[in-house]
Amino acid sequence: LPIDQSGVWRFRDLLPIVSKPENVVTLREGNTPLYEMPRCAKAVGIEWLRAKHQGMNPTGSFKDTGMTAALSVAADRGYEWVACASTGNTSAAMAAYAARAGLRSIVFIPEGKIAWGKLSQSMDYGALTVQLKTDFDGCVRILTELVSRFPIYLLNSVNPYRLEGQKTPAFEMLEQLDWQVPDHIIVPGGNLANSSALGKGFMEMRHLGLISRAPKISVIQAEGANPLYRWFNDTNRIMRPVTADTRATAIRIGNPASWRKAANVIDKLGGWCEQVSEQEIALAKAQIGAEGVGCEPASAVTYAGLKKLVALGKVSPEERVVLILTGHTLKDSNYTIDYHRGELLTEAEEAQISAADKALHAGL
Ligand code: F0G
Repeated sequence: LPIDQSGVWRFRDLLPIVSKPENVVTLREGNTPLYEMPRCAKAVGIEWLRAKHQGMNPTGSFKDTGMTAALSVAADRGYEWVACASTGNTSAAMAAYAARAGLRSIVFIPEGKIAWGKLSQSMDYGALTVQLKTDFDGCVRILTELVSRFPIYLLNSVNPYRLEGQKTPAFEMLEQLDWQVPDHIIVPGGNLANSSALGKGFMEMRHLGLISRAPKISVIQAEGANPLYRWFNDTNRIMRPVTADTRATAIRIGNPASWRKAANVIDKLGGWCEQVSEQEIALAKAQIGAEGVGCEPASAVTYAGLKKLVALGKVSPEERVVLILTGHTLKDSNYTIDYHRGELLTEAEEAQISAADKALHAGL
């Protein structure tokens, strides 16, 4: 059965979703590789580093593991329409799984703020694709208002079944490691569903006695989109939404829906929330690329964050670390080209280069 080839539905005994196997909407998601990252490990000074590449899913991001679950529920309940607001990957995944199920889909995305690869996917899969002159947080507000008035199934990450699907990579990773629990998992943080879902997966395995301890989970945000980082560093612990800005458009989110769940995962399992700069993200992405692996900018925050955690003494050299790479490198090829054209350099780097240029010319 197709369901048995899915890396999500193989674990259906651990999913609270009742659906006839033949009604499951699947594109054979999951079963993603866990890559060794020897050069990145060496560069950061740790012995053991792996990357779980969720960008190797059918639509190129980790969102597929959640969408197979949520679309199966939508189809089971007889919905005709599904909808989401997105920074691009959720919409690509939803559009594909809705098409697969024969449902119609509506996508709200912030105009000009998502990568072309992602925008083109939702069109290719036939979603009604609406660009709004606002940011992701504005798209969520408008969509929430819309679904309250029409019989549309909401597929943003507040949908609990998405999280159920998104917890399964935790199971798969442990299978791949012969049930040797890693010490530390590093996840990018945007709307904060993925960190919540993976944490749930590990806690459930511990609860079931499949593992005796769970790994720490650290969440990394971009400096320009860092509400959870700020919350952890606020002595009064007040969540203040921010106006988000980062070239890692997938995580350009200022008011994350699942922040309480993610904060709970970090507190319960140990781990930290760190922030990284635009340049740190760009360099980390190039280093992941240089392993022959590649990922989109939002995924690269994990390696940039690992560097920070090692430098702060929060990760020690003998810890076994897994980075969660959330999206495929082809999702945002403009970013990569801009970087290699030198458009993402800091002023200091540019000054250095022009000084070197001048010295070179002077010597000629
Ligand atoms: N990485 C990628 C590639 C993403 O697309 C997202 C989120 C994240 C990381 C952050 O995950 O939100 O669970 O903390 N993308 C959403 C979207 C918001 O609409 O595609 P998170």
